[in-house]
Amino acid sequence: MVARPPKPGEITDRNLALDLVRVTEAAAISASHWIGMGRKNEADGAAVDAMRRAFDVVDIEGTVVIGEGEMDEAPMLYIGEKVGAGGPAMDIAVDPLEGTTLTAKGGPAALAVVAVAEQGNFLHAPDIYMDKIAVGGGLPDHLISLDAPVKENLHNLARAKKCDVSDLVACILDRDRHAELIAKTREAGARIMLISDGDVTGVVATATPDSEIDIYMGWGGAPEGVLAAAALRCIGGQMQGRLIYENDQQISRAREMGHNDPHKVFTLEEMAKGDVMFAATGVTTGPMLRGVKRFGNGATTHSMVMRSKSGTVRFVEATHNFKTKTWTPH
Ligand code: FBP
Repeated sequence: MVARPPKPGEITDRNLALDLVRVTEAAAISASHWIGMGRKNEADGAAVDAMRRAFDVVDIEGTVVIGEGEMDEAPMLYIGEKVGAGGPAMDIAVDPLEGTTLTAKGGPAALAVVAVAEQGNFLHAPDIYMDKIAVGGGLPDHLISLDAPVKENLHNLARAKKCDVSDLVACILDRDRHAELIAKTREAGARIMLISDGDVTGVVATATPDSEIDIYMGWGGAPEGVLAAAALRCIGGQMQGRLIYENDQQISRAREMGHNDPHKVFTLEEMAKGDVMFAATGVTTGPMLRGVKRFGNGATTHSMVMRSKSGTVRFVEATHNFKTKTWTPH
């Protein structure tokens, strides 16, 4: 298998969309076996295993840059792992099960997620927290800033949306670390949708017309931040992220990955640049996607796949027959 660099624009000229959906469908179906079973590691393991196998027949030479962790701690889909059957060299960002606890508890909006870009186009984010702020598309540039007070961001957003701050809904992860952010958001007059997990959905929902979320704020995983940025590049929106260092080990790990300025604010384009494709399949039902519905010897899935160059967002509904699949779902 010989890697070759893609020709400019090749990622978008090739029809990878359905291949990527197959990859997230496989992960979602396998994870769905564990919905509500209280076993998040098994759910995650099933998703990783299925996603890894599904990549074997995709005609790319992919390198995992956002994955399940380092080689010594993750048996599969670790950072640096090569995936695919061979072809143009691409970088891969994966979260085979975004919302492991949600899945274990049968909660809403767990997803299987993958994004691809030409080599070097995803931020190499260590597995630490990232402070994030995001809004949807069609708004004036530079509307939000991680360095601005919460009240200012909300007032600017309300002005741009021609509504009152009290009409805005901010999505925030329900964590003790967000107590001050929650208090300031309420003080400014906005309403809050607290979510227990799953901030890729929280960010992407800001750009989804049918969702009630206007802005996402707060700390979540940095890898999830890059995946959400990839999605926003496709669907339209604004986002900033800043890596949060909690100890010296995290600082030196980030330095090894080339991050020398601990205060740097990353723009959307710095997190996911160039041609980007993003695919997700619902594991459990959420604001964007319905979850896997299993029956007898099969299942239905609901997925989205989008590309930044064209801005096309496709939704794919599929019925899977386990008797005739080339792989055996859990
Ligand atoms: P997992 O799927 O790995 O459990 O992540 C779920 C999640 O809620 C992410 O969406 C989010 O970015 C991160 O965890 C937040 O981390 P923490 O639970 O430590 O606050």
